[in-house]
Amino acid sequence: MNLTKEEQKEVIKVMKSQMLTLLAGDVVAKFEKEFAKYIGVKHAIAVNSGTAALHIAIASLDIGPGDEVIVPPFTFIATASSVIHNNAIPIFADIDNKSYTLDPESVKEKITDKTKAIMPVHLAGITADMGSLLDIAKDNNIYIIEDACQSHGAKYRGKKVGSIGDLGTFSFYPSKNMTTGEGGLITTNDDNLAEQCRLIRHHGEPSWYVYNRLGWNYRMTEIQGAIGRVQLKKLDEFVKIRNGNANYLTEAVNEIEGIDPPFIPEYCKPAFNYWIGRIHPEIIGLNKPQFLEKFPSGKVLYPKPLYKTKLFQEKVGYPKGCPWSCPFYGKEIDYTKIKLPVVEKISVEIFALDIHPEITKENLDENIKILKTITG
Ligand SMILES: Cc1ncc(COP(=O)(O)O)c(C=O)c1O
Repeated sequence: MNLTKEEQKEVIKVMKSQMLTLLAGDVVAKFEKEFAKYIGVKHAIAVNSGTAALHIAIASLDIGPGDEVIVPPFTFIATASSVIHNNAIPIFADIDNKSYTLDPESVKEKITDKTKAIMPVHLAGITADMGSLLDIAKDNNIYIIEDACQSHGAKYRGKKVGSIGDLGTFSFYPSKNMTTGEGGLITTNDDNLAEQCRLIRHHGEPSWYVYNRLGWNYRMTEIQGAIGRVQLKKLDEFVKIRNGNANYLTEAVNEIEGIDPPFIPEYCKPAFNYWIGRIHPEIIGLNKPQFLEKFPSGKVLYPKPLYKTKLFQEKVGYPKGCPWSCPFYGKEIDYTKIKLPVVEKISVEIFALDIHPEITKENLDENIKILKTITG
C-alpha cells in the first residue's frame, strides 16, 4: 500500500491539533497551495470528491437550466451526471478511434446556440486533444472544464492537465494516481472562478449567515489534506512507476497480433492511471466476454457508451422530467436515437489492466504470458 508512516504521522498531527475541518485548521489550505504550484495554476480548491469538483466547476460558470455541456460517452458516470445535477443537458460527442478521448470533429458537430462548455476527459493518463478543443471553444465563446480525475501529472504539450482549460477537476479516490481516501480538487487561473468555487464549496457563505449564492458542503477535511500533502510529494515517483509498468506491458503486447496497446498521441506525456488494451476479435477469435473469461486480470472498463445506460435511455434523472423537459431548454433530447460509431465499436473491444505501484514485475509477466497463450 502506498500509504506509509509518513501519511500516518501527518494524520496523527491533525488529530492531536483537534482541528479537523478546513474552517479551523490550515492543512487543506497548504495542500491547495502545493497542488496549485505542482499543476502550474494560480488557484486550487480542495473538495471531498472528484464528483463534487465537477459539480462545483459547472456551477461556478453559471451553467444551468436550458444549457448544454458536451461530454464524452466513454468515461465515469460523474462526468455526465454532474451536468444533470446542475439542471443542464449532457450532450455526447464521439471519441477518437486511437486515443479514446473526445474527438474534436464530433464535438464541432454537436455545438448549438445552447452549448456552454466542453468537458474533455483525460482518460487513464492520456491527455485529450486540448489544442483543437481550445480552438473550438474560442470560436464559439464557450468554456472548457478538464476532467483530469484519471490523469494527475499528465502533460499536454508540456503543460500539466488541469492548467489548460478554464477549470480542471481532480479525484483523489484510492485508485487514482494519488489519494486522500475520498477527495477532489478544482484548479483554475481565473480569480473570479476560484472565488465562486470556494463559495459553492461552503454553502455560498462568505461569512456567517451571509448567503451569496447556492452552494453545498463539499469541503475537504484536514485529515484528507494531511494525506494529500504527503501523497503529492510522492506523485512524480508514483507516475514514474506507473509509466514504467505501462511501457513494460506495451513493449510485450506490441509483439502480440490482435491486441493493441494504448496509443500515445504526439502532444501527450502520459501519467498512466491504468493500461488500456484493445482486442481485435476477428484476429484472436474471441469476443470481449470470451477473452475476459480466459484473462480474469483484464477489467471490463466501460462496457457500453454512457448514453446507453438506463439513466439516459429512460431519462430517469428527476421524477418530473427535469432537466430534460425543462421549459428553458425548449426542445426534448432523445438519447435512444444517439448513435456514435467509434465508442459503440470500441467499448466492446477495450479492456483495462492495473499498473499501480504495488503491481510486481512477476504479475506483469504472468499477464503477458496469459495474453500470449490466449492469442496463440
Ligand atoms: C473521469 C472521472 N471523472 C470523475 C470521477 C469522480 O471522482 P470521485 O470518485 O472522486 O467522485 C472519476 C472517478 O472515478 C473519474 O474517473
